[in-house]
Amino acid sequence: MSELKEPPVTAVMTGAGLRGREVYGEYALKHPDKLKFIAVAEPDTERRRAFQQAHNIPDNLAFASWETLFAPENDRLADAAFICTRDNLHYRPALAALESGYHLVLEKPISPSLDECRDIAATAEKHRRNIQVCHVLRFTGFWRKIKELVDSDWIGRVIHYDHSENVSYWHFGHSYVRGSYGTEASSSPFILAKSCHDLDLMYWIIGDKPLSVQSMGDLSHYRPENAPLGAPDRCTNGCPEAEKCPWYAPRMYLAGEPLLRIGLHARSPLTRLLAYLSLNHRKTLGILSRFSSSLRAILNWNRFPATVITTDLSREGRMKALREGPYGRCIYKSGNDVLDHQITTYKFPDGTTGTLTLHGVSELEGREIRIFGTKGVIRGYFRYNGEQITVTDFRFAKSRVVYRAGLSMGGHGGGDFGLMESFVKVMRGQKSPHEAGADIDNALEAHYMAFAAEAARTGRREVPLNEYRKGRSF
Ligand SMILES: NC(=O)c1ccc[n+]([C@@H]2O[C@H](COP(=O)([O-])OP(=O)(O)OC[C@H]3O[C@@H](n4cnc5c(N)ncnc54)[C@H](O)[C@@H]3O)[C@@H](O)[C@H]2O)c1
Repeated sequence: MSELKEPPVTAVMTGAGLRGREVYGEYALKHPDKLKFIAVAEPDTERRRAFQQAHNIPDNLAFASWETLFAPENDRLADAAFICTRDNLHYRPALAALESGYHLVLEKPISPSLDECRDIAATAEKHRRNIQVCHVLRFTGFWRKIKELVDSDWIGRVIHYDHSENVSYWHFGHSYVRGSYGTEASSSPFILAKSCHDLDLMYWIIGDKPLSVQSMGDLSHYRPENAPLGAPDRCTNGCPEAEKCPWYAPRMYLAGEPLLRIGLHARSPLTRLLAYLSLNHRKTLGILSRFSSSLRAILNWNRFPATVITTDLSREGRMKALREGPYGRCIYKSGNDVLDHQITTYKFPDGTTGTLTLHGVSELEGREIRIFGTKGVIRGYFRYNGEQITVTDFRFAKSRVVYRAGLSMGGHGGGDFGLMESFVKVMRGQKSPHEAGADIDNALEAHYMAFAAEAARTGRREVPLNEYRKGRSF
């Protein structure tokens, strides 16, 4: 039977927020032949209704919380449950959904608690359910190419793997200072929240589990003592440094400057021109955009990250959110405690070393990778403004570009939808969960790496990873 003739995989959505609605919900709307949401649990009335309307979900299948959706007395409604609630609300809905017999798509990180991660894995094993943890980067063309190059022995044996996750100053300020990832209590340690993705890549590409880890890091910049003299608690209260401060909230959330500035670094001259016009000649661009959908798309770049702070995107709506909500706070006085830089080194059984550099003071958002082998080197960058991989063979010492992709303003460079395509194949029995990276043991390894790194940093010692794998037999 051809793939197109199969009925869509059915699913229920828990948490119709940014990821639930705008990523996986969007995938189902674009690919109704592959995925169909038939129920939703979401306490925010506006979000729940929006999801209901988009997916034609009747009132009796729209719930205010996961507790009702996964209540033991209710029958299983679909093949899979998507758990897209915040980090500290994955555990209970995930367990309840597994107990009800659903396969899971579970947002990363699995949980901020190692015991809870293990519990979820054990429950999935007990009920023989798959869990696709959303380590979406494995499903991008860029990281698949890197994996293919390493596996093909092109650079020989890997001696050192060097990965940087450069979080831009504005994204860090938005999410990890003012926003919901700003404190460990509200989300997870920085390395788990931001980089279990990256650790998953390191484990997958090197193809082995690390032996031990060392780590150091700090919260150095986004602290009260670094606030300019006379800075009020909120940007909207007449800050004397408004013109100079890159994190001045009205600039970030009214004009949409951060994303437009990415366009200024794009490879395509046309995109650079449009971003320039949008920043400096908005009115002209507005008139021209009547004749071009790409121009309209560029103008819409000013919606994120404002969409996170309010649903009323008018100037007044945004200003109200800045005056009253967390996103208008001075960047130095936001009550945050997650680190703003951390460096972590892993040692692998064959002596290979791997480093992860993670920080929140980059001009551009994105990842950089260098893999040093015995026969050559792979270098790559994976950023919003473009992607590129070059390889150098020691015998010729000349670099060659082997992969290139243009501007990608979201979707994790194709990984979000790539993960969905893979998930549908697993559910249809066309791919094994292991082959798809949809087995929980695979996803757990990155979590062990992150928890162990935190223990190494806080305990100032080298931590053996086996300590973290103990407690459950794999
Ligand atoms: N895979 C990735 O690349 C990636 C990227 C960003 C975020 N994430 C992760 O995705 C998850 C969701 O992040 P987000 O940005 O979409 O958050 P969000 O806050 O936008 O969405 C979470 C939703 O859960 C809802 N919710 C709260 N309590 C609920 C309950 N009792 N029952 C049902 N729903 C409930 C909230 O109302 C909200 O709409 C987080 O764990 C985050 O770390 C993953």
